[in-house]
Amino acid sequence: MLTGDRPTGPLHLGHLFGSLAERVRLQDDPDMTCYVLLADAQAYTDHADRPETVRENVTQVMLDYLAVGIDPARTTIYVQTGVPEIHELAIYFANLVTVSRLASNPTVKAEIEQKGMGALVPAGFFIYPIHQAADICVVKGELVPVGDDQRPMIELTAEIARRFNSTYGNVFPIPAAVTPKGGRLPGIDGVGKAGKTTGNAIFLSDPADVVAKKVKAMYTDPRKTSLDAPGHVDGHVPFAYLDAFATDNATVSDLKVHYQSGGLGDGEVKQYLVEVLEDVLAPIRRRRVDFARDRGEVLALLQVGTDRAREKAAGVLDETRAAMRLDYFSAAS
Ligand code: TRP
Repeated sequence: MLTGDRPTGPLHLGHLFGSLAERVRLQDDPDMTCYVLLADAQAYTDHADRPETVRENVTQVMLDYLAVGIDPARTTIYVQTGVPEIHELAIYFANLVTVSRLASNPTVKAEIEQKGMGALVPAGFFIYPIHQAADICVVKGELVPVGDDQRPMIELTAEIARRFNSTYGNVFPIPAAVTPKGGRLPGIDGVGKAGKTTGNAIFLSDPADVVAKKVKAMYTDPRKTSLDAPGHVDGHVPFAYLDAFATDNATVSDLKVHYQSGGLGDGEVKQYLVEVLEDVLAPIRRRRVDFARDRGEVLALLQVGTDRAREKAAGVLDETRAAMRLDYFSAAS
């Protein structure tokens, strides 16, 4: 299993609802080798001018991982630039992908539009899906737990792996995405999705008063103008979060029935959501504070994982170069 995140901001409830929970589950499988990558080089593809942001978020996202229970004893957590074999593999992979194939990637297209890059899209950003294929293949990743938006990346990786294997001989397994069933969590404003760049999310590191404030600001039903008026639950952000995180489903459906028939206000729904989210976030926040006391130790854990990942990657690159007839100086050739 291999997956990762761009360290451009701390992780939020959308991540927790998405692939984060899956990663914690997969590490319980004794037959699974688990890798989680902090994609700092990928972060530079749209944060080239914000090195301090990326640097700080490497530690912040590492803290998020530790706080949600990704266990460095069972999961190799590492930083992308600590494994330069990824860059080498990406350069070989770039020859197996056409420019038009890259141009048709729906996620990259949406990001270019959302970030307003237009024709000024950096070449590094345009090719990051190739680099991501190298992230996955450099440790021979097979299962890739990610949000739905990352599916095109995993499909491209599968194409590249097949193309490599048929051109040079079998080196890489064909990876598959594991995407969460629930879809994506909406953002606080109800317009976009929960996202770190849009500031539309509740972060795992938000203190309780910030969480309460963000819940209070959540978009509900503008057509419901009085307490007695019946409300709609479609597009109602607090109900979407309750569906995602409440464990007491009976209470949530009672609230929905009451809301739809009138007599229940948004304030009460939001108050219940604050309680539900505190149950989820309080233990995560506690563990985060514990780990954050010793940032040196957090970085030491990252270094151990990075060394382990690099050892694996070096072996895969030896195999790759041999398959490509680039192994001029190795004893076996
Ligand atoms: N593109 C992913 C994101 O934006 C991060 C990522 C980088 C990744 N390399 C990866 C995800 C490899 C899965 C596998 O969040």
